[in-house]
Amino acid sequence: MSVFEIDFEGTLPAGECICLHLTRDAASRPAELLHALPPEEQTIASTLSPIRLTSFASGRIALRLALRRLGVDAPCLAISQMGAPALPPHVVGSISHKGLHAVGLAARDEGFHVGVDLELPRPRRTDISSVVLTPGERHHLERLAPEDRSRSVLLHFSLKEALYKALSPRVQRYVDFQEVSVEPLPDGTARFTLALAAGEGPFETIGWWRLQAGFLLTMARAGG
Ligand SMILES: CC(C)(COP(=O)(O)OP(=O)(O)OC[C@H]1O[C@@H](n2cnc3c(N)ncnc32)[C@H](O)[C@@H]1OP(=O)(O)O)[C@@H](O)C(=O)NCCC(=O)NCCS
Repeated sequence: MSVFEIDFEGTLPAGECICLHLTRDAASRPAELLHALPPEEQTIASTLSPIRLTSFASGRIALRLALRRLGVDAPCLAISQMGAPALPPHVVGSISHKGLHAVGLAARDEGFHVGVDLELPRPRRTDISSVVLTPGERHHLERLAPEDRSRSVLLHFSLKEALYKALSPRVQRYVDFQEVSVEPLPDGTARFTLALAAGEGPFETIGWWRLQAGFLLTMARAGG
């Protein structure tokens, strides 16, 4: 029996995308999850705590399936120095997970990295706006009703996390939320403005956002 079920698969502007969730049965049996991974990933996964094993496995399965949609087989998606998944040559990819759910995004390497993020589209218990938003973004969101503002803060957060995953392999360092501004547009795209502290770039960037399989799914591309 499969350890996961697919919630969505398709070709999105950022690349090939797989959203899936682990079955509760599989998630409660780490040994079964381990066997769903290729041998080299099993070696990595066997060192992880049960919760981390779940997220590691769900993300790897999702990304491997997304790569397969490109016709690429990945014998091992190890963990790179910065924490990103290590990919085979000529492809780029990204992972995000929430509980038993995971998303994998893969694309051909055309000079851009990609990033993906998955969030539950509901208000957070704590207000993260002072960390996530730049003063300009805060000013822009001031006029919104509390519920719309909270939704928008989450969207800004998620788009910046997706961008971080696309940007970090290029700049090879932590990028603070204050180094990037984002403007989500009603057509499901997003415009980033970078003010990178170390002056890297310029980079060509774009973001996308949508509701998918009950989640807020954001994606980003950075490179050029
Ligand atoms: C790295 C980070 C984005 C991960 O986000 P998260 O909400 O904790 O977790 P997610 O499930 O969405 O993503 C986790 C996956 O991100 C990927 N990831 C981690 N570090 C990464 C990096 N430096 N570059 C690219 N991908 C990375 C990994 O694939 C990881 O899953 P895995 O360990 O199972 O392979 C987040 O912890 C972080 O450090 N954010 C601060 C930096 C930031 O977002 N800046 C915004 C301005 S650009």
